[in-house]
Order: sequence, then C-alpha cells, then structure tokens
Amino acid sequence: MQDTVTTNSTTEDQGRRAGPCALVIFGASGDLTKRKLIPALSNLAQEKLLPQSFAIVGVATRPWSQEEFCDKVNEALDQFATDEVSSEFRQWLGERLHYLSGDFREAETYTRLSTLLSDVDARHGTAGNYLHYLATAPSFFDEIPRQLSEAGLLDEQDDQWRRLIVEKPFGSDLESAQALNRELRAVMSESQIYRIDHYLGKETVQNILAFRFANGIFEPLWNRQHIDHVQITAAESIGVEQRGRYYEHSGALRDMVPNHIFQLITLTAMEPPISFDADAVRDEQVKILHAIHPLSEERVIDDVVRGQYGEGRAGDETLAAYRDELHVDPQSNTPTYVAMRLYIDTWRWSRVPFYLRTGKRLAGRATEIAIRFKRPPFSLFRDTPVDRLNPNWLVMRLQPDEGISLSFGAKVPGAVMRLGDVDMDFCYSDYFGNQPRTGYERLLYECMLGDATLFRRADMVEASWSVVAPIQEAWNDRQPTCFPNYASGSWGPAEADALLARDGHRWRNCKTVSASCNEG
Ligand code: BG6
Repeated sequence: MQDTVTTNSTTEDQGRRAGPCALVIFGASGDLTKRKLIPALSNLAQEKLLPQSFAIVGVATRPWSQEEFCDKVNEALDQFATDEVSSEFRQWLGERLHYLSGDFREAETYTRLSTLLSDVDARHGTAGNYLHYLATAPSFFDEIPRQLSEAGLLDEQDDQWRRLIVEKPFGSDLESAQALNRELRAVMSESQIYRIDHYLGKETVQNILAFRFANGIFEPLWNRQHIDHVQITAAESIGVEQRGRYYEHSGALRDMVPNHIFQLITLTAMEPPISFDADAVRDEQVKILHAIHPLSEERVIDDVVRGQYGEGRAGDETLAAYRDELHVDPQSNTPTYVAMRLYIDTWRWSRVPFYLRTGKRLAGRATEIAIRFKRPPFSLFRDTPVDRLNPNWLVMRLQPDEGISLSFGAKVPGAVMRLGDVDMDFCYSDYFGNQPRTGYERLLYECMLGDATLFRRADMVEASWSVVAPIQEAWNDRQPTCFPNYASGSWGPAEADALLARDGHRWRNCKTVSASCNEG
C-alpha cells in the first residue's frame, strides 16, 4: 500500500468554530460528564472548534459550589483527558464554568436556571443559544424537557436555537420509546432533538460511508451477487463492572443491539444517499431497518442465541460469573451475550445472512464488520495441489487497532501451484497518527452546528425497537434454563457457533485484534 495520504478537504473547513452557545449539562456530577463530556470538550477546545462565546452550565442535585464544580472538572481532566491539557485551556474553561444545584423535578430549579442562563448570555455572549444535554438517569428524559419547556428554555426564535441531546437508553422497548418520542415532540420539534448513539461519534464508524461511497472499487461488489455473508461483532472483554443495577434491566440485547449494532448494520447495508444531508442519510438507514425480515417466534428460537457468562480465567486471574457481580441477582437470567442471524429483504441483500454478536467477558475486545465474499469456481485448480479456495474477507476493524484489511489468495513461490492467504492491511494509526478521542467530540460539535446526521431520528429508534420486539417477547415468555452457558474469557456459548455451523460457516474468532483470524 502506498504510504502517503492526500486529503481533499480545505484548511478552512478544518478550522470551523461552532457559533456562540451555552452547554447545559443535566447530570453534571455523574460519570458520563467526567469520563466523556469534559475530556471531549477539552479536545474540541484544543482543536479550536469551540466558540469563544461559550459557557458550560452544570446542573445536578449535589450541593456543590461553583468552586467545587471547577475542581471536579479539573479532576476529570487530570483523570480522563485523552490529550495533554494546557494550563491556558484550564483557565479558559474555568472562566466559562457555572454550576446550579437543584432537583430536576422542581419547577423552581428551572426558574433559577433561566435566570442563570440570562446572566451567562450577558457575560459570555452566548446569544440565547442553548444546548441541553441529558446526561442523567433515563427516568428524567421526559421530565427535564417538560420542565425546560415550561420555563421557556426550549423556545426558539429566528436568531436563537435551543437543542436537546438525549442519551441512551432511549426507551427499553418499542412502547416506551414511542411514548418518549411523543413526550419530547409535545414540547419541541423533531429538529431540536438529538438522540445520541456514541458509536456514531467513532471515526471508524463514520468511515464506513466514506469507504463504501468514496471508492469506485467496492460498491459494485457490495451485494448478494458477490457477498456470501456479513459478520458484525462487538465483543468486550470486560464484564458489567459497577453497572450491575443498570445492566440487570437492560441485558446485552437492549444495551447494544437496537442502537450500536443496528447503526453498524444500517451503514453497511444502506443504499447510497443522495447527499450527506441529515435526512438523506437517515432515510436510507431507516429503510434498512424496515427491510429486516421480521422474526417470528419460531425464528427467534432458531436464529437468536442468548448467553450469560459464568466463571472463567484470564491468565492467573479468576473472573467472576455474572451472577456474582455487584448488584446482580444471584439467580439472574439477564443475558450478557446475544447472537443472531438476520436477513434484509432488499434486492441488494436478499438471502445474504447478517450474523450479529455482542457480549461481555469475551476472549478479546474487538468491534468489527467482516464481509465474506463468495468462493470463486474451482475448476481451474482441479489438477493442482490446491485442494480448496478460501474466500476473500474484507474486515473493517472499528476498535481497537482501527483499520481495514482485505485477505486474498496468492501463489506461494515455488515450482508447484500452491496458494497462501495474504492480508492487505491498512491501520489508521500508521496513516493518520494516533488521535485519542472519546467519541463525543464530533457529536457535541455537530449538534452545536445543527447537523443531525450522526443522531438517531424518532423513526429510526422505533424501527430498531420493532426489530427486536419479537425477541424481547419470546424471551419474556421463556426463561433460559442453561445460564450461565459460557465461560468468562471464551468466545461465547456453543449455540452461537451452532447458529453459523448450520449454514456451513464459522465466526471469525479473532484471538487478538491485530492477529489474523480464522476463516469461516
Ligand atoms: C454502551 C453500553 O452503550 O456501550 C456498554 O452501555 C458498552 O455496556 C459500551 O460497554 C461499549 O462502547 P465502546 O465504545 O466501549 O465500544
């Protein structure tokens, strides 16, 4: 591969600062704020993408003073910043930080917030543009917008915008997602709502569209004529850690599938949009969700596998079973793993299986989309020592060790015809350097610019829940009897292997992310 990179963007569009605004973070004392939002803002500021007329208003129930909030923000930078943070930036940020302690359910909190925001506008020139970020427990996702609306803090005018970022989980099933959409749209328009999915903030996820549509060579092959099947893996080696309380209600299906995994499937399978306009892209994504073949109860039993991790080992360390984790019921039937086979009923994808899997405490961390091309006909090699032809794999490694690799067969040098598999491998870090990111930079920035392309629209969220609804119903009706059914540190339950074996395939069990993987 060549080792130079040409960029087609201009220096102007690399340095475009967002316009004046105040970022109001509800849940400012929480984990998300310190681990992701503050480090992301730091990265944005260092890249000169934040406006000078900018302020952060933290809102939370903790009775912190302004100084305490500043201290917490500095601690968050010390602990979680992905890059070195200059003292100039700390000072710049410190001058723009405000804190308001209050109960999210009390109208009085929003009256005080309104007064504070007027002061902030006067002091920082934020022009009445407010980006409200719901970094709270989901139980506040309807309450806070309703209160904001009553306080007039969602009212837009010609020269003034008001937007709301809603974190995940957006509902816990189709009905609750529909209800939340209704509540939100009762107090603001769809164009003001930004439903976040942090996967869309990942460079490599955004690159799927660039890779598919900015290159002439792949798209003509991107269909059922040439592709045998697709495997999408989001494997985590960590367990539930401290999040047992949340995870007990969510489980692997809700936690990962209708959001992150479905983003990956739609970006992989969608038709080319006519532009990068938010609705043009999202229209194509939602078509894929609607085209997923509905799962009947029988198909859930056959095509969907659930698992829960038991005890296991990683080197000398003993890994606890899910049922022994903090805040987890010792009899819990919550799945920590799910795999499934889906079909997309379109001309492009008819009869091409999409195998998805995600789980915790697996043998390695790897998020990837692997496209397996069809085997070529064999006749040419009949009278040679070659006994079979391996299919080509195109693998987009989304994290870690981000990159793209294409495997193909090549003649092994020598007097006889033998074939070896070789990889053509592109690593992001080799070409673009390491750019540590939280994934939230681009999302915050795009929201400030008013571009919703990387956010989920109401119909996408609902279509995603509709796809998994039959699974949720079938699982509610039948409790698993075999949990735990995979060892921590393994690649998941045997049933997931059987799911692919039925079709004559195997999961790509990547041992380590950069090592070559088994053929399927
Ligand atoms: C979150 C899930 O949305 O995504 C977590 O709630 C999961 O359970 C995480 O660990 C995975 O994100 P990433 O960026 O680490 O792949």
